[in-house]
Amino acid sequence: MSAGPVPELRARAEACADHLRSADSVLLASHIDADGLTSAAVASSALERAEIPFDTVFSKQLDADEVAAIAATDHETVLFTDFGSGQLDIIADHESGGAFTPVVADHHQPADADTEFHLNPLLFGLDGASELSGAGASYVLARALEGAEGDNRDLAALAVVGAVGDMQDSDGALHGANEGIVEEGVEAGVLESNTDLTLYGKQTRPLPKLLEYASDVRIPGISNDHAGSIKFLDDLDLDLKADGEWRRWADLTAEERQTVASALVRRAVASGVPAERINSLVGTAYTLVGEETGTELRDVSEFSTLLNATARYDRADVGLAVCLGNRDGALDRAQKLLRNHRRNLSEGLQWVKTEGVTSEEHVQWFDAGSRIRETIVGIVAGMAVGASGISRSKPIVAFAEKNDEEVKVSARGSHFLTREGLDLSVAMRDASRAVGGDGGGHNVAAGATIPNGKREAFVAEVDRIVGEQLE
Ligand code: C5P
Ligand code: C5P
Ligand code: C5P
Ligand code: ZN
Repeated sequence: MSAGPVPELRARAEACADHLRSADSVLLASHIDADGLTSAAVASSALERAEIPFDTVFSKQLDADEVAAIAATDHETVLFTDFGSGQLDIIADHESGGAFTPVVADHHQPADADTEFHLNPLLFGLDGASELSGAGASYVLARALEGAEGDNRDLAALAVVGAVGDMQDSDGALHGANEGIVEEGVEAGVLESNTDLTLYGKQTRPLPKLLEYASDVRIPGISNDHAGSIKFLDDLDLDLKADGEWRRWADLTAEERQTVASALVRRAVASGVPAERINSLVGTAYTLVGEETGTELRDVSEFSTLLNATARYDRADVGLAVCLGNRDGALDRAQKLLRNHRRNLSEGLQWVKTEGVTSEEHVQWFDAGSRIRETIVGIVAGMAVGASGISRSKPIVAFAEKNDEEVKVSARGSHFLTREGLDLSVAMRDASRAVGGDGGGHNVAAGATIPNGKREAFVAEVDRIVGEQLE
C-alpha cells in the first residue's frame, strides 16, 4: 500500500469541499471519542479558515432519532465526521426529503445506501480500520478546503491523534494513507516520528510508574510490581532522579533511553516473555513537537486518552477546546477528567479480571451491568484481552447497561482474527438486528445497542455468525 490518499479519494474530497464552499450554513456533527473530537477539530479549523459559517454538535451514537434532530435544525448542509456512513440509509432518506445535503467524512462500514458527498476510505480500496480514521478523512477534506491563505498540513498532528485514538497503529506503526499524513505533518514541522518504547505514559509518568503500569506486555517482576520496577531502575547504574524525584521517559537523553530499553528487553527475554510480545515493546512513537515536554499533549497516545476522558463523559466541549489550542482552563479541566477516566478504566479492568469472562465456542463475553460506564466498556474490554483467563484467540464481547430499555454492546477482535475472516461490524449489525437492535463499526472493533432481556439470544447469534466467519 502506497502512502497518501488515492487520487479518487482526493477527487471526492474536492467535490465535498466545493459543496461546502457553496453552503450558506453548515452543521458539523461528530462522534464523542478521540477520533471524533479530532475529526471535529480538523474540520472546524478548515471551515473557519475557509470562512464558511458553521455550528458544531456531538453525539454518542448516530441513530434515527439523532439524525431526525439534526434534520430539524435549519442548516442546509450537514457535515458528518467519524460517523454517518453506518447510518447512510437514514441520512439518505432525509436528504431525499429535502431536509439537508449531507457531506460525510467517515471510515466506518457503510450502510446499504450512497450519497454524492461521501468521503470514506472503504469506498476507495483502503482499510477503514487501519489505513485512515475519521480524523484522517476529515484531514483529506481539510486539504481540499485550503485556499490561497496557506495550507492545512498543520492539522496532520490532530489527524494522527485521531488515528492512534482508534488504535490504527495497533501493530506498532501507522500505515497506508495514515503514513502519508504523518509525512505531511513532519514536513509541516508539527510532528515527529521515532522508533521508541510503546509503553503508555512516556510524557507524564515517572519512570517506575511507566514500567509498573505497562500492561500490554507483561514482564514478570516489573508489570504491576512497584518495588520490582524501582529495583530494576536502581540496578541500571544511571542517574534517573532529579531533585529526589524520578524522571520521566521524556526527560531522558537518547543514550539513557537506549540503556533502559535494552535492559527491559533483556529482562523480558530472561523471564520467558514470548518473542512477538517482546517485539511489541518497541514501535513507532509520534510526538507533537509544538507541545510542551511532559504534558499529555506531546504524546499522541496520551493526547488521545485525554480526549476520551472528556468526550466519553459528556464534556466534548472541553476536549474540542484543547484540540483547538484554547488551553486556559480547558487543559486543567481535561486533566481532572483524565484522573477520573483512569480510575474508571482501572476499576473496570480489575472488575473484569476478578469476575472473568464466559467462554462460548467462538467468542467470550462479560456483562458489566452498571459497573462500567457504557461509553468506556469497549476500551476496558480491549485492555482486558490477554489477562489471565481472557484469551487472545477469541473475540471479546462486553455488555453494559445503557438505560432502562437498552443494553450497550462492545466487541473487540485482533488483526490476526480479521485475517482469518472475522468481521465484527457484520456480526454486531446482523446479530443485533436479529434481536431488534442495531450496530456496526469496523471488522476489528464494533458495537451495538440491543433491547434489554435479549442478551442470551444475541450471544447465541454472535457466536453462530463468528463461527461461520472463522470457518
Ligand atoms: O467509533 P470507532 O471508530 O471509534 O471506534 C474505534 C474503536 O475501535 C476504538 O475504541 C479503538 O480502541 C478500537 N480498535 C481496537 N483495535 C484495533 C482498532 C480499533 O480495539 N485494532
Ligand atoms: O483510552 P484509550 O482507548 O485511548 O487507551 C488506549 C490504550 O492506552 C489502552 O488500550 C491502554 O493500553 C492504554 N492506557 C493505559 N492507561 C491509561 C489509559 C490508556 O495504559 N490510563
Ligand atoms: O462503543 P465502542 O467503542 O465499542 O464502538 C466500537 C465501534 O463500533 C465504533 O467504531 C463505533 O462507532 C461502532 N458502533 C456502531 N454502532 C453502535 C455502537 C458502536 O457502529 N451501536
Ligand atoms: Zn473513528
